[in-house]
Amino acid sequence: MDIPHITRRSLIASAVTGGAAALLAQPAGLIEKANAAANPACDPHSSVDPYGVHQAGITTSAPEHLQLAAFDLAPGTTRPQLVELLQTWQGAIGLLTRGLPLPDAGEPDKAPADTGEALSQRADRLTITIGFGPSLFDTRFGLADQRPTALVDLPAFTGDAIDPARSHGDLSVQCCAETRLVAEHALRTLARMATGRATVRWTQAGFNEPPSNPADGAGRNLFGFKDGTANLDANDPARMARNVWVDPADGPAWLAGGTYQVYRRVLMIVRTWDESVLSEQEDVMGRRRLSGAPFGGTRESDPVNNALMPLTAHIRVANPRTGADSENERILRRGYSFHDGIAADGTFDAGLAFVAYQRDARRQFITMQTRLAANDALNEYIAHTASAIFVIPPGTTANGYVGETLLGAAPPRVTVPNPAADLTLPGAPGAVAPTPPATPTPGAPATPSPTAPKPPKRRAPARRKRPRRPRA
Ligand code: HEM
Repeated sequence: MDIPHITRRSLIASAVTGGAAALLAQPAGLIEKANAAANPACDPHSSVDPYGVHQAGITTSAPEHLQLAAFDLAPGTTRPQLVELLQTWQGAIGLLTRGLPLPDAGEPDKAPADTGEALSQRADRLTITIGFGPSLFDTRFGLADQRPTALVDLPAFTGDAIDPARSHGDLSVQCCAETRLVAEHALRTLARMATGRATVRWTQAGFNEPPSNPADGAGRNLFGFKDGTANLDANDPARMARNVWVDPADGPAWLAGGTYQVYRRVLMIVRTWDESVLSEQEDVMGRRRLSGAPFGGTRESDPVNNALMPLTAHIRVANPRTGADSENERILRRGYSFHDGIAADGTFDAGLAFVAYQRDARRQFITMQTRLAANDALNEYIAHTASAIFVIPPGTTANGYVGETLLGAAPPRVTVPNPAADLTLPGAPGAVAPTPPATPTPGAPATPSPTAPKPPKRRAPARRKRPRRPRA
């Protein structure tokens, strides 16, 4: 598929070569590994590696902004066109996650390839995570027999007030970045590339602010409580293997290294909550508001004793702490607050864009939410208004695309002569040989030919934001 000024080929070539140029242009240590330890002190403008065994944006420490969206494929879209779309997106992901614009020749009589709103930003820790909804496995693309048995439609839970127009979808795209512009630009770019093939079904923006004082631990949600305290440790590979990543033995084979994403748009009725007394708020949550400490403790990190809080306390119902079953049920929460203005009744349309990752949603989210929907004291103050589940395929390489294990390997990439060939990402099989210097000098780096096309320019350095602090 072509988008203005950009062929799929040129985009993929740019992603490989330009991406490599940007990688090497980054000061040492600024390339964050998406699946490695979240580096709390990392530069908020740095790049997160988009390639690896798992997709980025899951165990990557959550940046401040979320743009989540679902797409529906247009009627008549074929399986090769679906593959082409995913490959096109992958090419863009290679550029965007390195803070590079979509390249074009700057012809004044053509629409610019890059929409431009993030030209003054850098990579800003952008991650883009792609998922497939249950509907992708219907009869349209011949994938019905590849649908994972764990990819069940989420049931209707007690009290649900789900708006179907804001729920479900064939494909999901989660863009997270430290700046809202970068996350928005990423989503808009992918939506533009999908023109004629897929339409945006819904979007949901979100924000997360870490505490100003890093010693304050987890950030707070819109009910004023620290949120994330007892979350799974995304830096613990054994825990991620147990609770998040699909194991080869789980099946299907194409999903090994993937995971399941559950999204719930949870309206928080702040007007009612704000008038409830402090003791009621703490009884509802099962933690102290100011410190985040569990009942009987003084610090956020103190061990939780379920017996010390009401039976209906949110954290007690969410985690009954009954041993191995409870431990296997735990999920990796990666939610964001949202505020979408004023609802029809004049109240704030604000809440939690709940996003969670897990190895099997039947054993994890569905079991947990069934219990919460029936017993959680928090239900008086919230309403689930949108719902979706997606299977998240494993990660890919600079020459592949997300979904290749399901839909088939990408055709070989065509390489183009380029001055950055010597900077090609390690392991890129399509890389052309480095261009030798015009006058070879022993030990001197290769210099590009003056007639060769230039790699995309790096963006201007942006103002530094404060370094990220660890989230509990
Ligand atoms: C607006 C809705 C929600 C709010 C305001 C909320 C708030 C909180 C808060 C303040 C905590 C304690 C701090 C922490 O450990 O993170 C917590 C814990 C937790 N929440 Fe929620 N939550 C909401 C929805 C959900 C949903 C939909 C689920 C899953 C179905 C969920 C699952 C959990 C779990 C598993 C814990 C940790 C329990 C533990 O192990 O101690 N929450 N939540």
